[in-house]
Amino acid sequence: MKDHAGLSDQPVALEPVGKGNRAAILALELLPEQQEFVASNAESLAEARHDDEAIARAVVAVGRVVGFLMYSAPDDDDEAIIYRFMIDRREQGKGLGRAAVAMALEEIRRLEHIRRVSICYEPENEAARRLYASFGFVEQGLDEDDEMIAVLELSR
Ligand SMILES: CC(C)(COP(=O)(O)OP(=O)(O)OC[C@H]1O[C@@H](n2cnc3c(N)ncnc32)[C@H](O)[C@@H]1OP(=O)(O)O)[C@@H](O)C(=O)NCCC(=O)NCCS
Repeated sequence: MKDHAGLSDQPVALEPVGKGNRAAILALELLPEQQEFVASNAESLAEARHDDEAIARAVVAVGRVVGFLMYSAPDDDDEAIIYRFMIDRREQGKGLGRAAVAMALEEIRRLEHIRRVSICYEPENEAARRLYASFGFVEQGLDEDDEMIAVLELSR
């Protein structure tokens, strides 16, 4: 089927990070004004190498890496935390971020020990606020680093 409206109708897949997609993840870019909203992918990938609990995923649309996310879901906790998420500046506004969040929540929901998902973002990050609120995340207030924490209770 032809897609006249951009990529928003295309499926998005989350893929484990590995040799085949690492360079593409590192090549993803944000708009200058977005760079303070999330650590660089280079930092996140370096962190993931040393953190057994970090689950890093490439966001892939039509065979291309368009974004990156990272979450944790420790076995001894019932809360998953999505703590890195970005879509490349050239791919934003096409519904890919929404599709990626949906896929991440689907993946997390399959982990039976997880009851809630939390996410954090800068309070001035209106795009993130709206996106997460539309999935039912409820803002809890600022943490000690002045980041907004929002939580989604998973219905089981
Ligand atoms: C937040 C981000 C991932 C959204 O990705 P995206 O692919 O552009 O998002 P989508 O096109 O799927 O839009 C989903 C929703 O996000 C919100 N949104 C996206 N861009 C927005 C903007 N510029 N202003 C306000 N809301 C916006 C809207 O609610 C939108 O839904 P709608 O189109 O139905 O109104 C992307 O803007 C990004 O990478 N930002 C920089 C990094 C970041 O802030 N990460 C999140 C904090 S860790």
